[in-house]
Amino acid sequence: MKQRTLAIVKPDGVSRNLVGTVLSRLEAEGLRIVAMKMIRMTKDQAKGFYKIHEGKPFFESVTDFMSSGPCVVLVLEGEDAIQRYRTLMGATDYTKAEEGTIRRAFATDIEKNVVHGSDSKETARFEIGYFFNALEVMG
Ligand code: CMP
Repeated sequence: MKQRTLAIVKPDGVSRNLVGTVLSRLEAEGLRIVAMKMIRMTKDQAKGFYKIHEGKPFFESVTDFMSSGPCVVLVLEGEDAIQRYRTLMGATDYTKAEEGTIRRAFATDIEKNVVHGSDSKETARFEIGYFFNALEVMG
């Protein structure tokens, strides 16, 4: 089934010049970029994005980190895009991520894990709408 998913190159990925590396990996996997921009979230915008994690021990820290510098946000499209991109990223905890994944190759801790990806159809819908309006996503 053709799907769309939201991808982010996080502030650590942008500051370490890993944007091109991440984009080439996902294009090589056959995922299509149908929207893309660079943004810098405020703390409140990061809290809104991660609201499903509100109350968790890492909530303050991850929202500080995500608002600490620019991110590249993208919409990816393809067959089974949500799971394919998650496979490409690897586990949240990079020490548990498979060899060959983006996080295994580049993450430096559980928070500074270079990339984000939606984890379900419902979160993809919310997360895409959080950053992009209909005119910004190529049909
Ligand atoms: P992400 O996939 O963007 O979703 C939530 C983020 O919180 C996660 O990646 C990590 O960057 C960060 N995080 C920090 N600590 C944890 C943790 N213990 N479990 C899950 N996510 C964490």
